Amino acid sequence: MTHRLAVLISGAGTNLQAILDHITAGELPATVSLVVSNRAAANGVAVARQAGLPVAVIDHREYPDRAAFDAAMIERIDAHGADTVALAGFMRILSPGFVRHYQGRLINIHPSLLPLYPGLNTHARALEAGDAEHGCSLHFVTDQLDGGPLIARASVPVLTNDSVETLSKRVQQQEHRLYPRVLRWRAEGRLQLTDQGVELDGEPLPATGMQIDAPA
Ligand code: GRF
Repeated sequence: MTHRLAVLISGAGTNLQAILDHITAGELPATVSLVVSNRAAANGVAVARQAGLPVAVIDHREYPDRAAFDAAMIERIDAHGADTVALAGFMRILSPGFVRHYQGRLINIHPSLLPLYPGLNTHARALEAGDAEHGCSLHFVTDQLDGGPLIARASVPVLTNDSVETLSKRVQQQEHRLYPRVLRWRAEGRLQLTDQGVELDGEPLPATGMQIDAPA
């Protein structure tokens, strides 16, 4: 059976678009069973509808608390089936119950070389710190914000004249390569979270994940 992806978004949906492009190109043997957005106006919702995908807009403001919002998401996601739940710019913190429910199936992309700069404003923080390199990371999600076991990272150089805009664009190009690739490992049954950590083809990955830098 084809690997089913649920993709959770809040914003532009460029990672969702990259995932869909790789599926169309035959480079990612998966189907997107559902796109969930907590924002009706998110551009990613338009991306999903344009692709003819099932979309659930679940507005967190309509729920009394995080647990109730997450329970509503779980109900919708499970109704469509999900072998992997991919967070792609989903801007809500998930409850422990949600994280537990999808343990080992829940993956996030973060715009920094984790463990550097968990949280927000990562590009500005990398520039501020004068870092020579920056990048993005994919990790399994645990209760720790942006702190789960690393799967893969891609780095980019920070250039002298970089602004948040130019740097974030360079990082996003890598996100759009890296996310489909990691999801492909999942779809091919090669990537697991075990008690020992992250395993690819039955072998443990280093604590920093697989380093997959691209030609600029
Ligand atoms: C990406 O930079 C991702 O790393 C972060 O949110 C952004 C989402 O962008 N978590 P998009 O909605 O996929 O364009």
